[in-house]
Formats: sequence, C-alpha cells, structure tokens
Amino acid sequence: MQISFAEIEYLEGWVGNAFYLLDLDQLTHNYRQLAEVFQSTYPESRIAYSYKTNYAPSICRHLRALGAMAEVVSEMEYEMAQRVGHSGAEIVVNGPLHSQEFLARALLAGAIVNLDSWYMLEHLGAICRAHSDHRFRVGLRLNYGIGEDQPSRFGFEADDQVMARVRNILAEYPNCSLRGLHSHFSRSSRTLESFARRVRGLLDASRRYFGDMDLEYYNLGGGFLGELPDGLARQYEIHVPSNREYADTVAGAFADAFSGTSRPTLFIEPGTAVVGNAMSFVCRVIDLKTIGGTRLALVNASRHNVETVTDKDPPVRVVRRSEPDSGGNPADYDIVGYTCVEADRLVSALPGPLDVGDHLVFDFMGAYTNVRKRPFIRPSPPIVARQGGRYTIAKRQETVDDILCTYS
Ligand SMILES: Cc1ncc(COP(=O)(O)O)c(C=O)c1O
Repeated sequence: MQISFAEIEYLEGWVGNAFYLLDLDQLTHNYRQLAEVFQSTYPESRIAYSYKTNYAPSICRHLRALGAMAEVVSEMEYEMAQRVGHSGAEIVVNGPLHSQEFLARALLAGAIVNLDSWYMLEHLGAICRAHSDHRFRVGLRLNYGIGEDQPSRFGFEADDQVMARVRNILAEYPNCSLRGLHSHFSRSSRTLESFARRVRGLLDASRRYFGDMDLEYYNLGGGFLGELPDGLARQYEIHVPSNREYADTVAGAFADAFSGTSRPTLFIEPGTAVVGNAMSFVCRVIDLKTIGGTRLALVNASRHNVETVTDKDPPVRVVRRSEPDSGGNPADYDIVGYTCVEADRLVSALPGPLDVGDHLVFDFMGAYTNVRKRPFIRPSPPIVARQGGRYTIAKRQETVDDILCTYS
C-alpha cells in the first residue's frame, strides 16, 4: 500500500495515535479480481466473505455492495451480517458451536447452514419436528485427509461409517434434505497441490456417499493467499499461487466435473485474499535506547496490533522523517511495544538507521488483526479508510468507556 510521510503526518495529526489505514480501492480490486478469475472459469462461482477475518462494517458493507455474500461462524457475526444488510439467503453459516435457537433462526431465514457435529444433527431433528410444514435443506462440513501433518478438528469425517450414520439420521427427518457439502482446511499448506486435494476429496466424497442426491452447492472454504508483499511471500517458501492459478485449480476442476445448464454453485470463503493487503498499520518511533548492547526502538503500538494467525513475521518498512545523515546509524533495532510484557517485540533486528519521529508501516494487516486485539493495557487504535483520495473514520479510537461499559 502506498503511503507517504506527509500522508502519515496528516492522518496522525487527525486521529492522534497509531492507526490502521484501510484502502477501500485495494479492497475493490481484490474482490473483483478474485471474482473475475473464478467466474470466468466456472460462472456458478460465488464469494462469501469470511467475517471473522475482519468484520469492520465498512469492509463488510463495501464487499456486499460489490456482490459478496457473508460467511459467518457465530450468532454475533450473523447479527453483524444482517446489520450490514444481508438477508438470510445471502449468509453462509459455518462453525462448531451454535444453539438450537440460532440454527432454527438461520435455517428459517434461508441461510446456507453447514453442520459440523452430531449435536447439530440432533438440533436439526428438533427444528424439523417443531416446523413440520417447513422444508429444510442443510449442508455438511466434511473432513478428509489432504496430507496435513495434523488432521483438522472440524466437520464429519468422510468415511463409510460416519457417512452412513449421517445419512440414516437425515433420513429420519422427512422435511429435510441435503443441500451441499463444505470443507475448509487452515492447517494445510496453501499450495495448488493442497487445493487440488481439497477439491478431489470433496468431489470423491460426494460421488461415493451422496451420488444419488441432487446437491445444490459445493463450498471449498478459504485459504487463498492473495497478493502478498515480497517480504511476506519469501517467508512462505512455496510458489505463492496467483488467484488465476487458484481459480484454474479449483474452479477448473468444477468446470471439468460438471456440465449442462444447471450446475451446482461453487462457493469460496476468502478472508485473507480479499482483505489482507487492503490494510496497513502505522506507528511512530517514540524513543531509542541501548540496553546490554541491544538497540531498542519504542513505538506507540504493541505486538497485539500486528499479530495475525500465521507464524510469519509481519512485513514492515520505515517511512523516515528525514533522510538520515550519511553517518546515520545502520545498526539493527528491536522494535518494542507499550505493554509491560518483556516479549512485546513487534520486530527483531530491523536494519537501521532509525530515528525518533520515523514511522513504521506494517503491511498486510487486514486479516485477523483488529478482530483479535484485546484491550490489554491500551484500547484499540482507530481505522482510517481511504477511498479515491478521501478519508473517513472506519473505527474511532477506543476509549476507557468502551472498555469499562460491560463491567459493573
Ligand atoms: C470456515 C472458514 N472459511 C473461511 C475462512 C477464511 O480463511 P482465509 O482467511 O485463510 O481465507 C476461515 C478461516 O479460518 C474459516 O474457518
């Protein structure tokens, strides 16, 4: 994301703090490009944006206006999707823990619900009995080996015994039928080979266990990497697939598998690929000191602001207040945060020179940052949205009242 020192100074003067910068034009580009490559390969492809990745309403509203559906994994996220304007039919409900009341609400509203566990089938039975005049259609999340080190904990294992039991249970509910199949793997690598295995596993299970049913959709989940900055791409140590390559592998397999006029919908649920590079985090160097030979740069931020769900180091660059003298100190700095935790280190050994008043910009901060930040020691910083050269506040700076209002 492009951001100059003058722009940072202006925004910092406005919001008075470290801040996230959300680029809505980049978000538009990401969504449109991903939709285009999938839909040009398999026109029945649909994108359900993964709310957990970043549920800032300005992001969700923006994506809805571009045509995205919503993928949610809790009643809280379902409520958020409705507030953004999604009808039940535009919401995909996944996730391992739901009350019977919520499942009934989502199903009656026409949401696409992918069941994850046995107790949900029990809830479904009770819902079907309570609404015997309603015709229900549900999806199942399946779990099958795709060569990960540790198997996923989600969904129903796609083996003969489990699938027979699922079918027997569903057969007891006369007003319910199977609507589609879902899978998502977050522990596996994000290579094209991995995605080829994900598709193959889902289609094999479909043919083997549900070949007699007319399934309306297949849902391949998320996990696409999107356009990564170089510093992040290098850390993956794999060929980072482009969206076009993902589409060739995933949508291409569906185009090969299905012909005719009424083909099943292919859902994907990207989070990172849509929002990752659309947000950066900007903070300021407050102080420099040396302890035990280690140079430390204190910033007005914490590692909680830049932590995501990957084990990768956040890609960071320095936006300097002024060009350093030729004698500027080129030594490495550890970038440390405002908490009293010793391990609050945002970056180790960032090459200098560095000066008080310089800014650090952390890129690829759109996914799993602000939604996971707790109010530990300081409230969360604001999110400034940029679109067509204009700025709006997408999330204001939190206050002590925001933090304390739930306590008595
Ligand atoms: C079911 C499901 N779908 C989609 C996603 C989005 O994943 P990503 O951000 O890797 O695209 C997740 C993330 O955990 C998920 O659990």
